[in-house]
Amino acid sequence: MIKRDGYQVSLWQDSVPPYQSATPAHTNSKYDVIIVGGGITGISTAHQLQKAGKHCLVLEANTLCFGTTGGTTAHLNTLLDTPYTTIRKNFNAESAAIIAEATASAIQLIKQNIRDYQIDCHFEETSAYLFSQNESEDKELEDIADASIEAGLELRFSKTIPVPIPFTRVFEVLGQAKFHPVQYVYGIAKAFERIGGHIKQDCRVTGVEENETLTVQTSNGSFQCTDLVYATHIPPGVNLLHLRCAPWRSYAMAFKLTDDNYPEGLAYDMKDPYFYYRTQIVNGEQYLIAGGRDHKTGEDINTEVRFTELEAEVRKHFNIAAGSYRWSSQYYESADGLPYIGHLPGHPDHVYVASGFGGNGMVYSTVAAIALRSLLTNEETPVSKLLNPNRLKPVAGFKSFISHNAHVAGELISRLFPGEKLEELSALARGEGKVITYEGEKIAMFKDDHGELHAINPVCTHLKCEVKWNGAERSWDCPCHGARYNTEGKVLTAPADMDMQKMQVENLATAK
Ligand code: FES
Repeated sequence: MIKRDGYQVSLWQDSVPPYQSATPAHTNSKYDVIIVGGGITGISTAHQLQKAGKHCLVLEANTLCFGTTGGTTAHLNTLLDTPYTTIRKNFNAESAAIIAEATASAIQLIKQNIRDYQIDCHFEETSAYLFSQNESEDKELEDIADASIEAGLELRFSKTIPVPIPFTRVFEVLGQAKFHPVQYVYGIAKAFERIGGHIKQDCRVTGVEENETLTVQTSNGSFQCTDLVYATHIPPGVNLLHLRCAPWRSYAMAFKLTDDNYPEGLAYDMKDPYFYYRTQIVNGEQYLIAGGRDHKTGEDINTEVRFTELEAEVRKHFNIAAGSYRWSSQYYESADGLPYIGHLPGHPDHVYVASGFGGNGMVYSTVAAIALRSLLTNEETPVSKLLNPNRLKPVAGFKSFISHNAHVAGELISRLFPGEKLEELSALARGEGKVITYEGEKIAMFKDDHGELHAINPVCTHLKCEVKWNGAERSWDCPCHGARYNTEGKVLTAPADMDMQKMQVENLATAK
């Protein structure tokens, strides 16, 4: 089992051991490219660049697939969360065709990699089914079908769907796929190391100095490189992308069924947010995987209820056996529905980013790897042109900083707070958290399973928004740009890279 960015256990992360890197402990400190982030985007990009002749290093703050790659539901689609109707409206028909082609090529590259490196990740090509359940959804479904066909998808209306759910209309898209995302990433990581690439885990990037050469400071010393890629979902520092990417939480569950009605194919309804279903074999066992009940990060503190609602929806249609996996995960929605891949705004020369993948991170990770390989080898393609992050209009007076924490005061709070009073005020059950106000001071309180209180300053170290409690994952989540922290205030996910301040509480051990 590998560590993850939350309290729940994901099917993927539970079924594999932590990645063992073959990179020697002492490596050269000068690289052509450093890639920050060891999820599917970082590893796929590093592999593509190393193959193109660049000497690459991946720096991962935890272990490979600690974050969203280990928390996805792993659909590989050209039928995207942002429908082709929206892409056509926000951009044009030609752009929709470019995206359809780019995502199809990404699935083909994943398939090719699996074949070339003999990666055992239960990859399976299959169809995706989008189904409507009332008249107004029928109309929307037809519009999406028209735009998808125009963009180049192989699509046909169908009379059946692979899930036992009532529907009015449905279309089937061919050439989609599914796999075990962590096993795939491990296979690519091994291939990358075999051709000379380096991976450092438990190595958090704490700053970057931009001179002629970039100097990357980390928790394990500094490294130099010519180019840097942030594959951290959202870059650290302060950037235009923080204003244009909204963090969302998505919920997933994996069930064993009491019968054998595991669906073939990928199925999506048209609710907002939508529910989706698929089957996966993991370690010889079949699972029905369902997802949905998404919401903006920090918008709902009663996140446990999301699992209850998701399970209730699944129970309406399937015979679920006892015991299941459940986990949630984070993704970023871009302002116009397409990812930002290319030069980090404000850093036109040697710093790159891949962000804003929405719910299609599995396929966009490989679109990013291909696009970044082109850009870093001086080739501009229609995809890299379309997804250029600098398509954003600059905001007047907005300055872009890459210096990770320079803008945040790191002083410790010296005040000692009375445990008993806080205990009374917060009235927490074990396993619960809450932000309370005591004598004008806000305190993020958590009571652990032993009854001990943990208190931290609820100010996010990225840009000082107040964090919100996430009950299901037992984390403090920032609603502004999606940074997340554990109950001790340690950073779980970007854009923050500095832990929150602990607050001193008197009689902590006796507060029950
Ligand atoms: Fe930006 Fe918290 S993530 S203020």
